[in-house]
Amino acid sequence: MNILITGGAGFIGSHVVRLFVNKYPDYRIINLDKLTYAGNLANLKDIEAKPNYKFVKMDICDFEGVMNLMQTEHIDGVIHLAAESHVDRSIKDPFTFAQTNVMGTLSLLQAAKAYWESLPEKYEGKRFYHISTDEVYGALAMTHPDGIEPPFTTKASSGEHHLAYGDKFFTEDLKYQPHSPYSAAKASSDHFVRAFHDTYGLPTIVTNCSNNYGPYQFPEKLIPLFINNIRHRKPLPVYGKGENVRDWLYVEDHARAIDTIFHRGNVAETYNIGGFNEWKNIDIVKVLIKTVDRLLGRKEGEDMDLITYVTDRAGHDLRYAIDSTKLQKELGWEPSLQFEEGIEKTVRWYLDNQAWLDNVTSGKYQDYYHDMYDKR
Ligand code: NAD
Ligand code: TYD
Repeated sequence: MNILITGGAGFIGSHVVRLFVNKYPDYRIINLDKLTYAGNLANLKDIEAKPNYKFVKMDICDFEGVMNLMQTEHIDGVIHLAAESHVDRSIKDPFTFAQTNVMGTLSLLQAAKAYWESLPEKYEGKRFYHISTDEVYGALAMTHPDGIEPPFTTKASSGEHHLAYGDKFFTEDLKYQPHSPYSAAKASSDHFVRAFHDTYGLPTIVTNCSNNYGPYQFPEKLIPLFINNIRHRKPLPVYGKGENVRDWLYVEDHARAIDTIFHRGNVAETYNIGGFNEWKNIDIVKVLIKTVDRLLGRKEGEDMDLITYVTDRAGHDLRYAIDSTKLQKELGWEPSLQFEEGIEKTVRWYLDNQAWLDNVTSGKYQDYYHDMYDKR
């Protein structure tokens, strides 16, 4: 198979590219990425010389370029991750989010449709897999019907018990209610993907995943930003009261889910991906402080006074919580890591890879592409 992975130089995309390049030596993996501020080829240093890997610098909005690439590389499958992904940026600059997330996705859909329809086998053996977020479902309440104070133990539709901050979860049949320009743009792109299946028969799959954490995440997102700030003893800007709840999944578990769904998921289906792992922001921040302090040989918890409550994010969604029962039951996927284990691994990775962090925070990483490719 020849697989086009978009956004492969970003956080999640780099883990997906690495997994596919290493696990499937018979596949050709083409990584298409514009290398925005969030794209960093240093994330892929360990696999960039592999014979089944190729990088192409391109904007997904460039329809002619994408169409040409699909033809010359004989693309059989698309795994689409390229997007603008940071909610705070979307509040400041919604146009870029609509452009990349909506128009870029439309450009890829049109190119896949036109190329595959030109082949004798048409859509046979082809797949367009769109990676989306749980944020399209909106926000959940933090309530229990009997008035019990969260967190409490609750039963998901799988029958298993989990600690939760509310009795409702995001399931695949929920209506979309995005609140931020980021989630509105992702919701719109999801609708286009489904419309291409329903209108033209394009073999599409959509997945909606919860918040990811792990190595190579751009340090503007909560976990890497705070690890870096604790390391430098800089203030930790907690939005509002830190009471918002997010559902966290280790990034390699998301990449494994993508592998499973790309190969065994049913066309036209939606799968939610998450590990039933809800945390209040402030509790995560405390775990991060203790972990960084301990690993740096400081007194555990001595950096608690870095916590700084700041003005809340506009339209800040209260709670996200994914019910991934469908994926677990139908395709047998399960998260492999407990959160405590994942956080320990993640903090260690950022502390052991300070050069990567320093490069990213200084903007130097953007020279890497020019050294690697332009000078060849
Ligand atoms: P990221 O911001 O780290 O990476 C995005 C990548 O896309 C970058 O490499 C960037 O250069 C590239 N890109 C951006 N605009 C482009 C364009 N116009 N053309 C080509 N490439 C472009 O994002 P991420 O956190 O890895 O998220 C990847 C995908 O997963 C996104 O679609 C996001 O909506 C989704 N998602 C993310 C999370 C999360 O917690 N990070 C959770 C669920 C779903
Ligand atoms: P983030 O990592 O931006 O992911 P998302 O907004 O997609 O969930 O933020 C995670 C949570 O942390 C979210 O509730 C906002 C909060 N947050 C802060 O309190 N301070 C920060 O500096 C950042 C970046 C996020």
